[in-house]
Amino acid sequence: MSVDEIRITPVSPSIGAEISGVDLSDTLSPETVSRLRQALLEHGVIFFRNQDLTPARQMAFSGFFGEAVEYPFVNGLDDYPLVIPILKLEDETVNFGGIWHSDTAYLPEPPMGTILHARELPEIGGDTVFADMYAAYEALSDGMKAMLSPLRALNSASKQRVSDTRKERIEDSGKDVSGVQTESIHPVIRTHPETGRQALFVNSAHTVRFDGMSEAESTPLLSYLFTHQIREEFICRFKWSPGAVVFWDNRCTQHYPVNDYCGHRRLLHRITLKGDVPH
Ligand code: SIN
Repeated sequence: MSVDEIRITPVSPSIGAEISGVDLSDTLSPETVSRLRQALLEHGVIFFRNQDLTPARQMAFSGFFGEAVEYPFVNGLDDYPLVIPILKLEDETVNFGGIWHSDTAYLPEPPMGTILHARELPEIGGDTVFADMYAAYEALSDGMKAMLSPLRALNSASKQRVSDTRKERIEDSGKDVSGVQTESIHPVIRTHPETGRQALFVNSAHTVRFDGMSEAESTPLLSYLFTHQIREEFICRFKWSPGAVVFWDNRCTQHYPVNDYCGHRRLLHRITLKGDVPH
């Protein structure tokens, strides 16, 4: 397939684009990789339909964009330890990561991006919603931007609501996390290392308090930001279909998997790509 066959269709004015005309299981040409990377940087999250990626092929696809890294809490597949099953069983009520978040913001170097591939889907439901953190930042008043600009915040893996969302997966395939750094302080406004744009970098799953302030002092402003950053005009919603692949830029987006398919099984395969220290 040639790069000229690639079609990029935005799904909302601020975030998300559906891409057709590319088979992700192929060896991609440098032009194709560059076009897809450009689309990711421009739209924050890109969606592909009807792909057929074995774990090996998903690893190969991810390798065009970065280095796959471990997820700290849950083991990957036996033969592909960097491919994490995101599973919800028929009898489970809580879904993995079922709260607005950017991935593993508690690590010193949170991932640059994540690639999810649909393996088993409920007939209806289980959509994933994405929010644009550039738009969230840009919509703040100049006064708020100036106030937030020097602030840093503590991000932790231990907030109760997010810990609850991984409990069941840790019970069946958890790993020893004694060596993992589960708290990091990051800037509240980060500058994207590739686009140079500024993005709001707090999230309700992991951000606990502003550095140098107590939780009680931080909560009113953080609560405002958690509500502000998922306003309707900053989001898009992806309806999964068999074989769909979603690739998001974790440095300027957040996501929320909707838990509306109780009694049904859902399985996605996830690969996370190495990031850098946020500045
Ligand atoms: C995740 O946060 O990686 C899960 C996303 C999803 O299940 O749609």
